[in-house]
Amino acid sequence: MEYSLMHKNVLVADLDLDNETGHILKIVKIFNVQHFPVGIVDKNGIADRVALNDWWVDRSIPASRSGVKKALEVLNISNPKILLTKCFGLSLSDQYWIKPQNENISWETVNFFDNEFSEDIGDVLWGKRLNKDDVNYHSPDNTSDGCLKKRWKIVNGKRCLLKSGSTPFMQQPFNEVIASIIMDRLNIPHVSYSVIFDENGQPYSVCEDFITGNTELVSAWRVMQANKKRSDVSVYQHYINCCELYGVKNIIHAIDQMIVVDYIIANEDRHQNNFGLVRDANTLEWLYPAPVYDSGSSLGYDKLTNQILSGKTIECKPFEKTHEEQLNLVTSFDWINFEALKGINRDIKKVFENAGEYIDADRVNAIISSVESRIEYLQGIAISSRQIVDNIDDDVNQDVAEDYTLNM
Ligand SMILES: Nc1ncnc2c1ncn2[C@@H]1O[C@H](COP(=O)(O)OP(=O)(O)OP(=O)(O)O)[C@@H](O)[C@H]1O
Ligand SMILES: [Mg+2]
Repeated sequence: MEYSLMHKNVLVADLDLDNETGHILKIVKIFNVQHFPVGIVDKNGIADRVALNDWWVDRSIPASRSGVKKALEVLNISNPKILLTKCFGLSLSDQYWIKPQNENISWETVNFFDNEFSEDIGDVLWGKRLNKDDVNYHSPDNTSDGCLKKRWKIVNGKRCLLKSGSTPFMQQPFNEVIASIIMDRLNIPHVSYSVIFDENGQPYSVCEDFITGNTELVSAWRVMQANKKRSDVSVYQHYINCCELYGVKNIIHAIDQMIVVDYIIANEDRHQNNFGLVRDANTLEWLYPAPVYDSGSSLGYDKLTNQILSGKTIECKPFEKTHEEQLNLVTSFDWINFEALKGINRDIKKVFENAGEYIDADRVNAIISSVESRIEYLQGIAISSRQIVDNIDDDVNQDVAEDYTLNM
């Protein structure tokens, strides 16, 4: 079936899309090369259909999403790409969509920023709805990325993302709040998270959409796809180079901040879709580094208490294999106000106050002690003079999101 790929109301290209599989069969005609998603068009203005399909698949719920298999069974749908076409591919993180060519609709009438959306798909993903009768598919939950169970809801007129943790500790929602507190204290631009509990006492994190109808999130992965990386350039340097090419100000400082907070919380999943840039969706101007989001896979979220205490086997992404090596990329620690981190133990304790069923006191103490010792280490290197070491031999081998289905 023929669709138009749209960027708000800009006609980007006509596509032939297979409704049965959700696959883009052909880019029929290009109308606007500039407004293509980042990383699809080469220097000569040629759009790559395979790359466009990769981008399109990346818009759909990943197969590794907790509970997606069950949801597809309920909806009697073979693959999550089919869900994309049922909501015009609209999202709450960017402004792309596909318009069936026989329909006379505009971005104003369909977008999720200004218009209400159905809760049905969210309910199915939440395991709350067990039949597909009368399902209204017009929902941004069809286009949400990431492995954890999640849904968008309109709360007091604001678009909010609700996100679960993974079994058995369900720790990620609490970690998001602790990361928010640390970033508040250090003045790091971030998405602010809080925790709510459902009727069964299960915790979820809640955060507001940091994208508006005029902006969009472009992940670091996409930013880096747009420019070829030379083999003698590290992933870190390639990202900085791309951002500087786009004229993004203060990118080095923003990455310094992200590396430091990821060190403090021992983040194990800062893959290349968990940070990025915000651009103006109308003018295509690159605006600023995205505020730090998705910091929940941290603080030993999937480890036993003794493992949290030992601090061994902490994974590191996106630039180096260990957090200590990654700290070597930080150009300045001068901005860190260590005084502001004093008393963080009390805040951490408070966050976990209502988590008793999942997280016991020993676990909380282990988390506090690991955070305190990491802050101490950081303070030690911040005051000693050091050289920046960026060695491409230390680059991560793989950059993939955690697969929580293994923990289910
Ligand atoms: N507050 C937000 N505003 C807009 N878009 C968001 C927001 N939070 C997350 N997103 C988008 O939704 C995606 C999934 O969210 P998030 O990364 O928090 O989920 P996750 O399941 O923890 O992901 P992962 O697979 O990395 O563990 C993000 O990659 C981003 O594109
Ligand atoms: Mg994520």
